[in-house]
Amino acid sequence: MYTKEMLESMKKVEAARTENANMEPRRMTAEEKETLLATYHPDYKTEEFDLLQVGPNKGDKVPKELAALLQAGSRITGKKIDLRHPDYDVDVLVIGGGGAGASAAIEANEAGANVLVVTKLRMGDANTMMAEGGIQAADKPNDSPARHFLDAYGGGHFAAKKELLYKLVTEAPEAILWLNELGVEFDKAEDGTMITTHGGGTSRKRMHAAKDYSGAEIMRTLRDEVLNRSIPVVDFTAAIELILDDASKAAGAVLMNMETEELLVARAKTVILATGGAGRLHYQGFPTSNHYGATADGLVLGYRAGARLLYADTLQYHPTGAAYPEQIFGALVTEKVRSLGAKLINAEGEVFMHPLETRDVSAASIIRECTARGKGVTPPEGQGVWLDTPMIELKNGEGTIEKRIPAMLRMFDKYGIDIRKEPILVYPTLHYQNGGLDIAENGMTAVENLFVAGEAVGGIHGRNRLMGNSLLDIIVFGRNAGRNAAAKAENVAVGKLTLEHVKAFEAACKEAGIRRGLLSPQLLPNYARREKTGGKN
Ligand code: FUM
Repeated sequence: MYTKEMLESMKKVEAARTENANMEPRRMTAEEKETLLATYHPDYKTEEFDLLQVGPNKGDKVPKELAALLQAGSRITGKKIDLRHPDYDVDVLVIGGGGAGASAAIEANEAGANVLVVTKLRMGDANTMMAEGGIQAADKPNDSPARHFLDAYGGGHFAAKKELLYKLVTEAPEAILWLNELGVEFDKAEDGTMITTHGGGTSRKRMHAAKDYSGAEIMRTLRDEVLNRSIPVVDFTAAIELILDDASKAAGAVLMNMETEELLVARAKTVILATGGAGRLHYQGFPTSNHYGATADGLVLGYRAGARLLYADTLQYHPTGAAYPEQIFGALVTEKVRSLGAKLINAEGEVFMHPLETRDVSAASIIRECTARGKGVTPPEGQGVWLDTPMIELKNGEGTIEKRIPAMLRMFDKYGIDIRKEPILVYPTLHYQNGGLDIAENGMTAVENLFVAGEAVGGIHGRNRLMGNSLLDIIVFGRNAGRNAAAKAENVAVGKLTLEHVKAFEAACKEAGIRRGLLSPQLLPNYARREKTGGKN
């Protein structure tokens, strides 16, 4: 299965393993990082971005694929929609069934609101479920939320909205307690204390994990809680446009049954968008670690309704996506593998960077190694560098891999690769949208009664996110949105429902001369096989 070239390179990796495991690579200076990012990080490829021509962020750059969707045609155009007789009428409408949506629904329900969750796939089909490495919280004696803030603020290039990041780090310890109480089975030492590890860019060990399926464990628990509370969940039902009232406040959504395409109307006093990320748009042709539903739907809905985007031009390419074998291209190889001691090694068997630089720096460094330096490994498809997983047991003893990262062991074992004995090949994979909709501290956008939580929010992390701060933000900001949307709903009198904003947006696109073959939100990735049609299309 491996090519001759790969096998020769693996021999070099093996020969240098003990020496490489014992060396301490230096950290890059700030200037070195800046130059590296500007030259190799995909966010800096200006030709891959377009300027928006309409909407609240007119003139701002976003990835081409996102620009096309934000300014595409609406799925409701030409459809008859009866806004006077809603199919659902609730206090709080939660759009999205991942970790943020579930946390929001639980807290809104706890506050006594009548809540409805709609999700285009099923509850738990979300990036939360795919998260592996863990969740950060400064809850150890040698740590503090202030240190957590400094790590995340620096890692995000000093661009995070300070009030959001402050909320994230100060409410983190309580978020862990909440999850623990709900039943998340965190890794614990014999005395019951939580086991914590480093992530890229952390100055203290504050990553709490459930082995290397932390997200699945958290999602399992949240989903159970939603079900135990009998919160209504409508599966396979996508929101395809937000509804406003005649005072331009959010007042519900047009829903579409994913199977029958029947359109339904949900009226709500407050709306929470928790639709997740955008990896399945495959920006710049990158593979992704994301769930199938990650198609930036919430950004499209919110933008058309008048909410601003923040940092939508910045994406996270996780440094270690699987680059071999082809069947798992782009699948996440958790950063925890490096936290446990595995180093990144080039084709010559050389350590070329510190394994726990921040993600943007690590990804750019791998891209440089494979391109400008010509020291990448070339499997039959693509390219990559080695992640020397056997170092983990060299450092921590036999059995560590099985105990701490069993999902990684299994994922590669399916293809005959024993990560305890052989290194694995990795290359950056599209992992996270750092940007999203702009919110205030209470989770609300500039569109009154429209809240956002989870990956659809921009600004919590700035222009780069540290590992483990996403599972944290879905909990902190999911709960926050749920509580505040429920409280707000108590004093909302919904006016006359309208979709005039959609028409106005369409008119603005027409006026700007935008060609609109596309409909959005996209809802599902575009993997349809193109059949040969003899030129007849
Ligand atoms: O590497 C990881 O396990 C990913 C974690 C994250 O994105 O927070």
